[in-house]
Amino acid sequence: MSNVNIDWANLGFGYIKTPYRYSAKFVNGEWQEGQIIEDDKIVLSECAGVFQYAQTCFEGLKAYYTEDGRIVCFRPDLNAKRMHDSCERLVMPTFPEDKFLEAVKMVVEANKDYVPPYGSGASLYIRPYMMGTNPVIGVKPADEYEFRIFVTPVGPYFKGGAKPITIKVSDFDRAAPHGTGHIKAGLNYAMSLYPITVAHEEGFSENMYLDPQTRTKVEETGGANFLFITKDGKFVTPKSDSILPSITRRSLMVVAEKYLGMTVENREVYFDELKDFAECGLCGTAAVISPVGKIYDHGEEICFPAGMEEMGPYTKKLYDTLTGIQMGRIDPPEGWVFTVCEAE
Ligand code: PLP
Ligand code: COI
Repeated sequence: MSNVNIDWANLGFGYIKTPYRYSAKFVNGEWQEGQIIEDDKIVLSECAGVFQYAQTCFEGLKAYYTEDGRIVCFRPDLNAKRMHDSCERLVMPTFPEDKFLEAVKMVVEANKDYVPPYGSGASLYIRPYMMGTNPVIGVKPADEYEFRIFVTPVGPYFKGGAKPITIKVSDFDRAAPHGTGHIKAGLNYAMSLYPITVAHEEGFSENMYLDPQTRTKVEETGGANFLFITKDGKFVTPKSDSILPSITRRSLMVVAEKYLGMTVENREVYFDELKDFAECGLCGTAAVISPVGKIYDHGEEICFPAGMEEMGPYTKKLYDTLTGIQMGRIDPPEGWVFTVCEAE
């Protein structure tokens, strides 16, 4: 159990430097053996591919203590697969899935003291990332890369914990063009920094992005997918090739159908339909499930009747079941929970 001095209950979503990180280098066309290191600094050429042409991508997952004292991660194999897709799209070498899982295990074990205690409401956020490291001046991919993972203990992504947030319909598009929205490329997040700054200045917690072609369909927010509940209790979630294929959303589709007996619709969701939904939430590793009470659309407001003051009833059931599976209180589907350390 942890013996570091952190006020877990009041932790926000920030960076706390922990003692160890994982690093593996790609040189001469192959991955070198990865290792746990202490240095949090990365020294690179001024001309490195990551600085010049933004050749970098990342992943995000969490580790938790279970009630019986194990440390587990939720579906890290899917993070490995999604990072593979991100790397392919950015012409970076892919990092093998078995090595990815081994690296997650190594870095979490090394930083065990920073895994928040069971029931504290906090978790250990795990950030795998990769970057082009050698000098590149003509527009082309780098030849050398570094894959790293750092970890940081985190609390809720949105201030106020489970209190419903208000978001706005963005005036901007989220992802860079050329269909890169479905991968976790650093450049997509760079493009969202201006819109999120505007939204925060105006008092909103997030942006709702619409499809850039027609601006009639709901896509996602800057850091999470959407879920909606209809008045007759159906689970609806937007389908689009340009949103990040959220592991949380894909898991919730199974939870809703198999654990809660709900009808699940994964389809295009038109903005005009929003006023008819009973509940709205954001789902993701960082967001978990964060209820949305209100969406502001250029002077008009869409309010979700069931979730203005607290999480709506269906959102709450989904939240309790998902977090119950993640923290070992509810039996998971086969292969969903990856054990990092057995109970001591
Ligand atoms: N959409 C975006 C843009 C994200 O950054 C994230 C976070 O990873 C998600 C959705 C949610 O994905 P996941 O559930 O895999 O964390
Ligand atoms: C995650 O949930 O892991 C993300 O990458 C979202 C980010 C906004 C922190």
